[in-house]
Amino acid sequence: MSSLPKIVVVGSCSVDFTTYAPKLPNPGETIHGTKFTTSFGGKGANQCVAAAKLGGNTYMICRVGDDDWGGKYKENLKSFGIDVTHTKTTTDSTTGIAQITVSSNGENQIVIVAGANNHLNKSDIQGALSLIKNADIIISQLETPVDTTYEAFKLCNGIKLLNAAPARTDIKNLLELCTVLCVNEPEASLLVGFEVNLSNIKLALKELLDTGCKIAIITLGDKGAAYSSSNDSQCIHIPCEKVIPVDTTGAGDAFVGALATFLVTQKDRAIHQIIGAACDVASKSVINEGTQSSFPDKFICQENYKYTVL
Ligand code: ATP
Ligand code: RIB
Repeated sequence: MSSLPKIVVVGSCSVDFTTYAPKLPNPGETIHGTKFTTSFGGKGANQCVAAAKLGGNTYMICRVGDDDWGGKYKENLKSFGIDVTHTKTTTDSTTGIAQITVSSNGENQIVIVAGANNHLNKSDIQGALSLIKNADIIISQLETPVDTTYEAFKLCNGIKLLNAAPARTDIKNLLELCTVLCVNEPEASLLVGFEVNLSNIKLALKELLDTGCKIAIITLGDKGAAYSSSNDSQCIHIPCEKVIPVDTTGAGDAFVGALATFLVTQKDRAIHQIIGAACDVASKSVINEGTQSSFPDKFICQENYKYTVL
């Protein structure tokens, strides 16, 4: 058994059906695509794979369907060294899927059908009680039932990291249990009730901290990320490397997986340096197609990432 810090994901596994096209279609429009791929995705599993590829000691608590994809998905997780003891198969349900379109400028559109992900329940959490209690960090998202994540967060003695994606507002109780809340600009906008961007990020982060979390992080695409902590209420912006994006799908997942890994393996580093390193990992993921396949596995953190106190 590994003595490395335990990184536990309670979240989704989905199969991504991705078409690449010159642009995203308008409503009612049919366009010609240039390529089609099938790959392993889902925010939960993506974040777990991102952490595993960075050398994290990872565990996946999730549900797949009793179709061909379910078995293949479990093998995929194992191939990254992820512990699948608590990866369960749901009878009479399909594995979750995501239908993704990526445009030539790297933007995407995603529709998900949760399938077996919707069946992840409180007894799955009870079944993994010892792992959850002893986890150094639990990561969760909103592609699996909220009350299941709530149960896991309630029982965990370690860091509780919520990536509140896809966006929804009925998560007040969950936010109160979070150590770290991480959202992108549209998700932040929905939670705070105004359109968030770099110019009003200080106010947005303050409102997110008011929900009860200890650290609030907003990722800003090619502008990096910003954070505030309830300790000192300082707001710090960390820019990211300039790259030419090929496919930004899963960039947020690369960020969250890296953030979780560095939070438990580089405890002596300042939080803005940990966020800088997570941005660095995520920016490296957008220069390649796909999600899990685009996450870096040979990564060296810089000594000092640039930042600005806002
Ligand atoms: P997605 O939904 O596409 O997975 P997201 O919307 O959750 O991503 P973003 O804020 O777009 O999250 O991106 C997360 C991180 O990925 C950013 O903080 C940044 O480090 C990196 N990133 C995203 N887009 C770019 C880009 N165009 N250039 C460089 N880095 C990027
Ligand atoms: O964040 C990217 C992921 O969102 C994709 O892999 C897709 O499965 C959707 O859940």
